[in-house]
Amino acid sequence: MANKLAALLVSFAMLMAAAAGFYTPPSPSTCGLKVGYYHDKCPHAEAIVRGAVGAAILRDPGVGAGLIRMLFHDCFVEGCDASVLLDPTPANPQPEKLAPPNNPSLRGFEVIDAAKTAVEAACPGVVSCADIVAFAARDASFFLSNSRVSFDMPSGRLDGRYSNASRTLDFLPPPKFNLGQLVANFAAKGLSVEDMVVLAGSHTVGRSHCSSFVPDRLAVPSDIDPSFAATLRDQCPASPSSGNDPTVVQDVETPNKLDNQYYKNVLAHKALFTSDASLLTSPATMKMVLDNANIPGWWEDRFQKAMVKLAAVEVKTSGNGEVRRNCRAVNY
Ligand code: HEM
Ligand SMILES: *[C@@H]1O[C@H](CO)[C@@H](O)[C@H](O)[C@H]1NC(C)=O
Repeated sequence: MANKLAALLVSFAMLMAAAAGFYTPPSPSTCGLKVGYYHDKCPHAEAIVRGAVGAAILRDPGVGAGLIRMLFHDCFVEGCDASVLLDPTPANPQPEKLAPPNNPSLRGFEVIDAAKTAVEAACPGVVSCADIVAFAARDASFFLSNSRVSFDMPSGRLDGRYSNASRTLDFLPPPKFNLGQLVANFAAKGLSVEDMVVLAGSHTVGRSHCSSFVPDRLAVPSDIDPSFAATLRDQCPASPSSGNDPTVVQDVETPNKLDNQYYKNVLAHKALFTSDASLLTSPATMKMVLDNANIPGWWEDRFQKAMVKLAAVEVKTSGNGEVRRNCRAVNY
């Protein structure tokens, strides 16, 4: 309480000083990150990443969904430090990318490689893989939304040297989570209930394996719309296994478009996961779903801000990070 008041007073004082003309606010930043961090260090870095992401999405829009999800899976485990990109080595045979939440479903790794190769050719050793992941998620959002989601992504992250498969199970929420579990999971990373509701709107693009929803949504009674359930049963085996686990689109209405259709699907009980359906289980989150579904531009505006917040989770400092030369391996 006292802290909050002090912070309020300080920001009020800064506001007054700014109004009087003797305080210049720093350029927009979160946690030491800065918009345009590479402006002097590697002027074309962001354009190069955007080019690589745009080319990849032209070939396969699904990879754009993968890149948006990659930011989430990177940031929730060891912070936004590209730990999700590290390949197995004899010394570290089980990195994050081999864990069930990522393997085999997480995609887009080769787009990050292509962007890194191009950026290294322009400015060797300057641009971190963690920043490339953040730019790529931003750019995928831009392209898949037909530029309706368009925002600055602060940068200056460093890459971590630690990646442990079992940590993904501690931090990445499974699709069977209920609302209380989701709220706690996001709160542990400094994200609010509304951030969670707004970021879950990413499920307006991409695909899901049948195994992520059949056991707790189709095999047992659930609130899922009966005709929607029937179309899913046509596409999925009754008990998916690693050898027989097809994928379905998450948003049947506009599968490759990043828009607010997710919230309309949730309201119509045409969402895949228990976690999606759980957004209707409290009055507060129900209201957020309704606003995101019904007010034009509401979701896009909040999604941009929530992505910047997500991309600032537990960023590394020069004490515990580096700029990796190859995104798949720590520097030796
Ligand atoms: C709220 C908790 C969340 C849960 C429980 C959850 C769960 C899942 C699951 C189970 C899948 C399907 C994986 C598969 O079977 O192939 C998925 C896909 C996806 N998720 Fe989430 N997710 C959550 C939040 C998020 C967030 C915060 C983002 C991004 C900001 C995100 C972006 C995506 C995207 C884009 C896909 C499709 C990926 C593709 O097509 O490659 N999700 N999610
Ligand atoms: C990975 O994390 C688990 C606990 O989450 C721990 O038991 C294990 O030793 C860790 N492995 C490495 C290589 O650090």
